[in-house]
Amino acid sequence: MSDFVHNPVLLKEVLSALRPAAAGRFVDGTTGGAGHAAAILEASSPTGWLYGCDRDSDAVDVATARLAEKFAGRFEIRHMAFDQVASWIPTGSCDGVLLDLGVSSPQLDRAERGFSFQADGPLDMRQDRKQKLTAAELVNTASAEELAKIFWEYGDERDSRRFAKAIVMDRETAKFRTTLQLAELVERLSPRAGRKAHPATRVFQALRIAVNDEIGQLNRGLQAALSVLRPGGRLAVITFHSLEDRIVKDFGRNMARDYEFDGPVDAPGLRRPRKPLLGLVTRKAVLPGEEELAENPRSRSAQLRVMEKL
Ligand SMILES: C[S@@+](CC[C@H](N)C(=O)[O-])C[C@H]1O[C@@H](n2cnc3c(N)ncnc32)[C@H](O)[C@@H]1O
Repeated sequence: MSDFVHNPVLLKEVLSALRPAAAGRFVDGTTGGAGHAAAILEASSPTGWLYGCDRDSDAVDVATARLAEKFAGRFEIRHMAFDQVASWIPTGSCDGVLLDLGVSSPQLDRAERGFSFQADGPLDMRQDRKQKLTAAELVNTASAEELAKIFWEYGDERDSRRFAKAIVMDRETAKFRTTLQLAELVERLSPRAGRKAHPATRVFQALRIAVNDEIGQLNRGLQAALSVLRPGGRLAVITFHSLEDRIVKDFGRNMARDYEFDGPVDAPGLRRPRKPLLGLVTRKAVLPGEEELAENPRSRSAQLRVMEKL
């Protein structure tokens, strides 16, 4: 596992948001290769504590071994989805929570994980390999309407219906088993024609979000993070696409309001006053600087938002 390398994004910015200090208790809900986790433990030496979790058991093994070298006795890492942290970590006990969403570099780079359209591998995309649903199963069993909805809602794919129909036709002849099979179908229908991004980028993103229930995880995970924070504790969330960022932004805005309302529309007559639950530390998303962009191209779509529990 020594080749499990992930460069943590927006590291300086995360540290200045969470302000780790000795005796603090922190949660890294997406521990990955432990880049952020190690920096949080270092900055909170000698007595800071870290609860870490990841859905990927490879990441849990690597992070545990890495952190043990320098921070033994100051952390616990569990194989767990971050929407479950409130069942593990005591309510109101933590000074900071980090969620660095999405996939890690090793997940993308290892063909056998099936996340990438650039290398041939099984059409898998599960972050937690104990989960039953794979991308292949979804692609081979969902209706054309369901697939089109996934491509449209999670990938903003304008050709969602066309791709979905073609998948349903093609799978009559041969089931989809590999990443390249799917990438080639998309490329056949939508040739690259000089475009920088591969035509299957959005379809792959959308399938990954659906297979891993990333939107459900995020909605529940934000609530779970809020519940384990103490008043004054901070939540830092790094997102990698606009759908996620909108959810984090809306969550912050809703929780920062001094009222709540039932139903889908915020009408003044239906508002009930309440104390705001969060303050917004960053009004706008924080983006990587030029230096980071040059050093780590995978940081290019990262956006950080920071909130403080009141
Ligand atoms: C961008 S990487 C995190 C990298 C990490 N910050 C570092 O410094 O190495 C995202 C990680 O979050 C994990 N992950 C994604 N969604 C998750 C969820 N709902 N619960 C737990 N882990 C999740 C992925 O398996 C992946 O390892």
